[in-house]
Amino acid sequence: MEFTTLVETGLKVSDAIGMVKQALDLGVNFLDTAQNYGTEAIVGKAIAGLPREQVVISTKKTLPPVDHANPELEVIKGLEQSLKLLDTDYIDVYHLHGVEPKDYEFAKNRLMPAMRRLKEQKKIRFIGVTEGFVTDASHGMLQESLKENLWDVVMVGFNLLNPSARKTVWPLTQKQGVGVLDMFAVRRALSRPERLKEICSELLQKGAIAENLLNGNEPMEFLLRDSDATSLPEAAYRFCRHERGVDVVLTGTGNPTHLKENVSAILKPPLPKATLDKLEKLFGGLDYLTGN
Ligand SMILES: NC(=O)c1ccc[n+]([C@@H]2O[C@H](COP(=O)([O-])OP(=O)(O)OC[C@H]3O[C@@H](n4cnc5c(N)ncnc54)[C@H](OP(=O)(O)O)[C@@H]3O)[C@@H](O)[C@H]2O)c1
Repeated sequence: MEFTTLVETGLKVSDAIGMVKQALDLGVNFLDTAQNYGTEAIVGKAIAGLPREQVVISTKKTLPPVDHANPELEVIKGLEQSLKLLDTDYIDVYHLHGVEPKDYEFAKNRLMPAMRRLKEQKKIRFIGVTEGFVTDASHGMLQESLKENLWDVVMVGFNLLNPSARKTVWPLTQKQGVGVLDMFAVRRALSRPERLKEICSELLQKGAIAENLLNGNEPMEFLLRDSDATSLPEAAYRFCRHERGVDVVLTGTGNPTHLKENVSAILKPPLPKATLDKLEKLFGGLDYLTGN
């Protein structure tokens, strides 16, 4: 079936292809998609005609059910389908998608053998995993699985409201030389000021952050007032971009103007040290916010 509109953004497929091309023109060379996003064919069409090595393609295999009779075959079939839709003969980073702590043994024992075989066959270059950040905001699955040498690349939820991966994940990825892709840099909380206000007031009510650090009416105004950032998303992307331990910051947008702004944000210098220090005081000890 051919889609004409993307359900989540309402974007026309032709416009989505145009946006991927716009990203490439702006210098983006890392494209992340997934089997269950329905966007692999869009990426395939946008990169058609480019020398393959000019782009790094990351895509994800939805986990088969744990009681599936042949989950290895599911992984292989999923990969073949992704190759077809992306119109390529290899994937740079092939992930197991949204592995929660409860899925970890299944992923390791029943899916990894197929992932390793695909890597040996050079159909994938690197084996990746993405965490289920919404339900596993303190990185339980990654903390457990990074004790073993399984992944080449991990996709981690990290943002200025939940920088906990700095303490619990980077020491492990750095020790093993595992690549880190950052997701959830902005989401709803850091693109909609009213959502951020709500989150701050919930934290204040719980006593999770010190009242004297925030201005009640505009709790995060310091982020723009005391720094050179021109918008909340800009500050949020810059926070992630300059984090030691993050190799790639992902940006998710269906808006061409936002895409341009985000690329320019990612190219800007770090936020001022005083702003970073204040963020650390406010959120450095929290490991449960997702940014949603
Ligand atoms: N478990 C998983 O595997 C998993 C889960 C979630 C996401 N991901 C991956 O993470 C990557 C990034 O996705 P994300 O959702 O984390 O993206 P994100 O960049 O943190 O947030 C995207 C949201 O921010 C808004 N936004 C972006 N730039 C903006 C701007 N300049 N001004 C105002 N609003 C802006 C977007 O709305 P507009 O469209 O209006 O710009 C969208 O609602 C994707 O590649 C995705 O595959 C993986």
